[in-house]
Amino acid sequence: MSKTTLHSLMLLKKLGEKATCITSYDASFTQRINQAAIDIILVGDSLGMVLQGHDSTLPVTMGQMVYHTRCVDAGNSTSLIMADMPFMSYRTIEQAMTNGTDLMQAGAQVVKLEGGLWLKDTIEKLYEQGIPVCAHLGLTPQAVNKLGGYRVQGKSPEQAASLLNEAIELEAAGASVILLECVPSGLGKAIAEAVSVPVIGIGAGPDTDAQVLVIYDMLGITPGKPARFVKDFLAQEGEILKALEAYVLEVKSGHFPAPEHCFK
Ligand code: KIV
Repeated sequence: MSKTTLHSLMLLKKLGEKATCITSYDASFTQRINQAAIDIILVGDSLGMVLQGHDSTLPVTMGQMVYHTRCVDAGNSTSLIMADMPFMSYRTIEQAMTNGTDLMQAGAQVVKLEGGLWLKDTIEKLYEQGIPVCAHLGLTPQAVNKLGGYRVQGKSPEQAASLLNEAIELEAAGASVILLECVPSGLGKAIAEAVSVPVIGIGAGPDTDAQVLVIYDMLGITPGKPARFVKDFLAQEGEILKALEAYVLEVKSGHFPAPEHCFK
């Protein structure tokens, strides 16, 4: 199997075929993820919650992101690796350049930044220098304190229009991928149709170009009540590889996410 690239993801979008994405933080899960032919691996700062046990992603450091990106890269042969820039690691363009470089040198092919229009210049500079960016919009967990909790975003017509505009503007600034978290399905569809780059959704409905889940969530390991958008594929399949393969099959065939995993 050849390695996923931004080019091959664009092709899938043009063909109307769904892409798959899942988080990984180490080499062993990464090898299973490759076996299941998952297109994209996200080295997410969700590791602060599912590996480190914090109640937010804020404590995660650049050093930790670099370490886990190296671990994933060591186990990877076929997926595109996207790595999160952690809280406050891109507050200036200079910082974003230095930290983005570290993640690319650790094995990432794309870096992910959370935020809106204020990221335009940063995305432009990173892209110009060969660092492709995924812009994370909607529920941005690094802003949990500002947002007042992990809530669905873009529910009012004004908020929805503003998110749509942000996606369009950030694509124009050079974003190669958009990730949309916890927005109504109709808005997920509208944004995927409005931009030409791939849109990855989590709790953003069935019509985004790709889906992502946190691996600990879809294997039923994360403690506590799962979020609405989570499905436990391990409970359904009984084995890790089969769970990953079922996720791929259900995303590609349009069976996941089902209405019970989506927001109105
Ligand atoms: O950090 C992460 O795993 C993420 C996903 C929830 C999309 O950003």
